[in-house]
Amino acid sequence: MTVTEDETRDLEADFERTVAAEGRIEPRDWMPEGYRRTLIRQIAQHAHSEIIGMQPEGNWILRAPSLRRKAILLAKVQDEAGHGLYLYSATETLGVDRAELTEKLIDAKQKYSSIFNYPTLTFADIGVIGWLVDGAAICNQVPLCRSSYGPYARAMVRICKEESFHQRQGFELLRTLMAGTDAQRAMVQDAVDRWWWPSLMMFGPADGDSPNTQQSMAWRIKRHTNDELRQRYVDMTVPQAAALGVTLPDPELRWNEERQAHDFGAIDWDEFAQVVKGAGPCNAQRLANRRAAHEEGQWVRDAAAAYAAKQARRTEGAAA
Ligand SMILES: [Fe+2]
Ligand SMILES: [Fe+2]
Repeated sequence: MTVTEDETRDLEADFERTVAAEGRIEPRDWMPEGYRRTLIRQIAQHAHSEIIGMQPEGNWILRAPSLRRKAILLAKVQDEAGHGLYLYSATETLGVDRAELTEKLIDAKQKYSSIFNYPTLTFADIGVIGWLVDGAAICNQVPLCRSSYGPYARAMVRICKEESFHQRQGFELLRTLMAGTDAQRAMVQDAVDRWWWPSLMMFGPADGDSPNTQQSMAWRIKRHTNDELRQRYVDMTVPQAAALGVTLPDPELRWNEERQAHDFGAIDWDEFAQVVKGAGPCNAQRLANRRAAHEEGQWVRDAAAAYAAKQARRTEGAAA
């Protein structure tokens, strides 16, 4: 069946009306090709980030200082795997295959968040990742619970609940370290010094350099610009840093009475560009690990497919 130009116009008008009325677009609804492509790119990038993000923290599971810390960290890393799976499932509702997206990730044809290309040098990094990285993720992701695409919005509701647990466990770990020895406090400060700026980069380029933002906002995929979210994150984090007793490494960070918001220093966009391009401290290692895990998992996928085929044959046999 071919769709006439008139019918396409009607479908497009329906789509625009639904989005404007804060309705949800569902997998079977008509959608513009650009909307579909934007969602696939954004959700896949998000899914890849959850999966690659397991590596910097996984690095410390065997070296966690107590059984309690190990159980918490294991649960958190496992949550991230679950987030990746919800999100890959959401992309599949748009007509792409998860295997295809995984290939694109390991061939470096699709991106993941630049933050996961930094190394985790001490156990304090685990606390700082929970506090700052999951904290930034929450700022980014809470508005996505109202995204116009139904499967994405629903996945985000669940993910955000777990992210807020992640943020709190990070904060609690840091509070424990800050109540410890001078060496422990110095370890926390060192981790904050290394993660603060990369966490600000998680919101993406400044609004003037983010060409897709306006269209994404018009489609109500995104609800706020990168700079708005970054500001919200800074304003949320400054009092938390004070409560912890750590210093955020930015001499220009101060409250602006007029704006009722914090001013902060310039982000090193060259560093951001380098890390996005693949030249960050850990890019090659992250991708090599992901590729190896994918190849080593081939027998599991083969076994699952063989089992599913056997079950299907049995069901068919029983029906006959
Ligand atoms: Fe996550
Ligand atoms: Fe998380």
